[in-house]
Amino acid sequence: MNVAVTVNGTVYERDVEARKLLIHFLRDDIDLTGSHIGCDTGNCGACSVILDGTLVKSCMVLAVQANGSKVETVEGLADGEQLTALQQAFTDHHALQCGYCTPGMLMSATSLLRSNPSPSDEEIRKALQGNICRCTGYWNIFEAVKSVAR
Ligand code: FES
Ligand code: FES
Repeated sequence: MNVAVTVNGTVYERDVEARKLLIHFLRDDIDLTGSHIGCDTGNCGACSVILDGTLVKSCMVLAVQANGSKVETVEGLADGEQLTALQQAFTDHHALQCGYCTPGMLMSATSLLRSNPSPSDEEIRKALQGNICRCTGYWNIFEAVKSVAR
C-alpha cells in the first residue's frame, strides 16, 4: 500500500506492507532511528511518538494507519543545535544513562507539557508511567520534567 506520512514537517511517501508497524516505517523506511524498539508489545514506551497531537506507542500503530497524518519524533524536537528546554533539562539533571528510553521519555513528557504546562508531581508520574527505564531509577527524569514544568 502507498502511504504518505508527514514526519517532523517532511512528507514521506513509501510503499509498505499492510502489516508494517509505524516504528518500522520510521526506522527502516525513512531512516529516523531516534525512536527505539524496546519490546514491540506496547509495554516499554521507547517507541513513543506524537501522532496528530496524540502520544502513541508506534509499535502499536500500523504505518497505514498513519497515512495522511502528522508524526513528531524525537528528531523533530530540537531546532538545529538548539535543544528544547526539556532536552536541556534532561542533560542538566542527568536524566539519562544508556539513553535507550530517552526518546520515548522526551516524547511523553513533551506531550504532557503541551497539554498541561504546570503538571502536579502526580501528573508527571502518571504521564511517564508507560515508559520504562532500566538505568536511572526514574528520579532524575522526574526532576528534569518538573524543572521545566515550574
Ligand atoms: S517498543 Fe513500543 S512500547 Fe516497547
Ligand atoms: S537511561 Fe537506560 S533505559 Fe533509561
